[in-house]
Amino acid sequence: MERSSDDIRRQVSEAYTRAINSGCGCGPGCCGEPRQKGTVVQSAGYEASQLEALPADAVENSFGCGNPTAFSELRPGETVLDLGCGAGIDLLLAAEKVGPEGRVIGVDMTEEMLDRARRNIAAAGYENVEVRQGYIEDLPVETGTVDVVISNCVVNLSPDKPRVFAEIARAMAPGARLRISDLVAEDLPDWVREDADLYSSCIAGAVSEQEYLEGLRSAGLDEVGIDERLVYDIVQLRELLGSELVDDGENGHRDDLLQRAASVLEGKVASVLVTGRKAGS
Ligand SMILES: C[S@@+](CC[C@H](N)C(=O)[O-])C[C@H]1O[C@@H](n2cnc3c(N)ncnc32)[C@H](O)[C@@H]1O
Repeated sequence: MERSSDDIRRQVSEAYTRAINSGCGCGPGCCGEPRQKGTVVQSAGYEASQLEALPADAVENSFGCGNPTAFSELRPGETVLDLGCGAGIDLLLAAEKVGPEGRVIGVDMTEEMLDRARRNIAAAGYENVEVRQGYIEDLPVETGTVDVVISNCVVNLSPDKPRVFAEIARAMAPGARLRISDLVAEDLPDWVREDADLYSSCIAGAVSEQEYLEGLRSAGLDEVGIDERLVYDIVQLRELLGSELVDDGENGHRDDLLQRAASVLEGKVASVLVTGRKAGS
């Protein structure tokens, strides 16, 4: 049976609520085998020196698949918007780069994630960051006010990506830049597309690179392209699924799904850095 957009967002939000409440410093379902602190975020593209400066909780509760701030060339005084900010790792990295004259806004639908982000912002001592509860399909952000849009492994989770792309374009100021790390996927089998756990794990909702770029162009953005691409091999897929896969409590369900999915997904899933610009100066 087709799931409605509201059902999808509710299930995704529940998965990330479980993840942040699990207290084991890992993804939505890996409490059985807690990941080593920082291993997934480091392979996602963060440098050890960047992570050392952050509150440990922000690092341990990072669920991204890239480092959108690394290539963003954020400048002092700019306003940055992070779609699906989670526990706040990229908010903190952006806050450092834009400085006290700049501003960082994080949007997320999951209250528990926002609570954690608020605590991490306070622990890091930044006063130029705020988080807002809302959907990325209906951004609680004024039109034309954002200089740089970043996001880390979130748009794939949206049931209405054209709406997200339109909202991004609306929020961007003339000349604003886009730097999104996300997963894309080609030719996924139907059983993968229909699996709710694989959806929350950032796989089943991922669209092709072409569909992603066309979506952004249709929303009116220019200079849309891919700056980095990492096609996941089986080891990277096991790492991703092992840290993100939701444990629904069914005996052996997670391990079975992990094995089945990793073997059919090899070469079909990639982490990409998507770039774009809004016309104007
Ligand atoms: C994979 S996690 C990534 C979190 C963060 N960007 C990071 O790198 O750690 C996905 C986050 O996006 C949020 N999210 C997913 N779909 C969303 C939507 N439609 N609107 C707002 N937030 C959403 C979830 O609540 C979760 O915090």
